[in-house]
Amino acid sequence: MSRNPKAPYPKASSNFADKVALRVRALGLIDTPTPKVLDCYAGAGKIWAAVAEEHACDVDQVERDPRVAQPDAALADNNAVLTRRELDGYDLIDLDAYGWPDEQLEVVAVRRRGALPVVTITCAGTPIGRVPNRVLDAADIPRTVRPGVPSTEPSYWWTRYTTSLGWRTEERWTGKRVGGAWILYETLIPA
Ligand SMILES: C[S@@+](CC[C@H](N)C(=O)[O-])C[C@H]1O[C@@H](n2cnc3c(N)ncnc32)[C@H](O)[C@@H]1O
Repeated sequence: MSRNPKAPYPKASSNFADKVALRVRALGLIDTPTPKVLDCYAGAGKIWAAVAEEHACDVDQVERDPRVAQPDAALADNNAVLTRRELDGYDLIDLDAYGWPDEQLEVVAVRRRGALPVVTITCAGTPIGRVPNRVLDAADIPRTVRPGVPSTEPSYWWTRYTTSLGWRTEERWTGKRVGGAWILYETLIPA
């Protein structure tokens, strides 16, 4: 895969090796020799380039930042791509976000209802960040109490949400960062 010559040198993703290993294991769950992957937060594509050295896969990239997007990536907002592109051919959808990829996951759930793909996710936040309404809707949390819902323990809310959409958690690990920021890495498979 060639690199966009105008791109700044890509920053190494935190927990890079662990994120690669999680995705190699996720590919191993799929019963086809060369799974088709949609990488929705591709950056410079480093993670899936490393995954591809360990497991055959055919990766389509989506990245909205032209400074890091590779020449063969769709330069677009992933919500637009997930909404408009035919998704049926993808065995795995990767949502390696630096926030809550709740909207993206809902689009996948609606468009692939009855045949959900494997999904690999990074979800990250801070204690002062709000849990998205879409996620709290899934847990039936009344709007009046939402400002008091802590965003310090993402797994509980996130799991209520992903379960409501039809997935179950195959693998998950979480990490804390300075200031109480948190990050969650997981693989979801159809329940
Ligand atoms: C966590 S980084 C991804 C790292 C990447 N997976 C790798 O291999 O190093 C998030 C990337 O997603 C991109 N991004 C964030 N929101 C996006 C969106 N809505 N649509 C497309 N790309 C997005 C950012 O520009 C950034 O490059």
